[in-house]
Amino acid sequence: MHASPLFARAVARLLCRVDQALGRPATLDFVDLGAGRGELVTGVLAALPADVAARARGYAVEVADRPAGLDARITWLSEPPDAITGLLFANEWLDNVPVDVAEVDSAGVPRLVLVAADGTERLGEPVSGVAADWLARWWPLPAEEGLRAEIGLPRDLAWAAAVDRVVQGLAVAVDYAHTTDARPPFGTLTGFREGRETAPVPDGSCDITAHVALDACAAARTAAGTTRTPSGTAHTPSGTAHTAHTPSDTAHTSPDPACTSPGTARALPAARLLTQRAALHALDLTGARPPLALASTDPAAYVRALASAGEAAELTAPGGLGGFGWLLQPVGIPDPLPRDA
Ligand SMILES: C[S@@+](CC[C@H](N)C(=O)[O-])C[C@H]1O[C@@H](n2cnc3c(N)ncnc32)[C@H](O)[C@@H]1O
Repeated sequence: MHASPLFARAVARLLCRVDQALGRPATLDFVDLGAGRGELVTGVLAALPADVAARARGYAVEVADRPAGLDARITWLSEPPDAITGLLFANEWLDNVPVDVAEVDSAGVPRLVLVAADGTERLGEPVSGVAADWLARWWPLPAEEGLRAEIGLPRDLAWAAAVDRVVQGLAVAVDYAHTTDARPPFGTLTGFREGRETAPVPDGSCDITAHVALDACAAARTAAGTTRTPSGTAHTPSGTAHTAHTPSDTAHTSPDPACTSPGTARALPAARLLTQRAALHALDLTGARPPLALASTDPAAYVRALASAGEAAELTAPGGLGGFGWLLQPVGIPDPLPRDA
């Protein structure tokens, strides 16, 4: 999705709205969290009007190495900057944060799913503690054998820690998402190898993903100084090993207790969830076809506009990318997208 110039331009427009809401600060940060090869930050900087570009600072936050030849203006980091004034944008980052998987056993009890390197699964201990609390609140499992849930707590904590870095501005997470009214009964754990779906075997041969309980992330309240990205969230630079379920028969990526201890939560306005379709429409990106008359007056422009309309339609397709979830968390500014979006 990052490769799409239309998407980058829409995010640049969002950055401009944040800039206005901030009163056009002397430096305006754009932080791409989980930046891949830096395509989005490159596209966003290129799409900014000159007066905004002159004040903008682009950051790519990535566990992978900086690609050769990346625009020298982009700062490449392994952690988000400490104090962000501007827009933090996390596109398909949260689905990379590992989660444990729970499955209901024959007695109706949710247990952790343990998996060996060859993909063989067995049930482990009953889910307990903060993970059980999370399930009860966000993904209650009926006592029906075989039902599954992905325990999103590490993602809530990772998101809260990212939002904590924003001093003033907007934090946005975009991902394959589901909400409490429609959780997938058997979870969403999927492996990908060379772009094709495959069994989610944690042997490093494929990328393992699970959709995001974005409503739970939206509700995660930040507690400055006490929330941080749980250990074990790193994703290998090769893009292979993100352990959406436990990679061995023993370990289990429960969060560090420090992550859940109470702190002084900042008073933030409620986060907002919307579909990518609605968000992009609110950012003036639509899939409308160009007027046919253009074909005779300026055929080249017509063909360009048609290609652009096709790309926009793909980004906003209700059953496809348009169904992605957008989570908006304003920090000290009004929500920059119109309410009817
Ligand atoms: C699914 S890719 C998305 C890449 C890009 N944002 C896009 O939409 O095309 C997720 C990226 O997040 C990176 N990542 C995962 N965990 C991370 C972490 N804790 N800190 C920084 N980057 C991380 C991965 O290396 C990977 O490049």
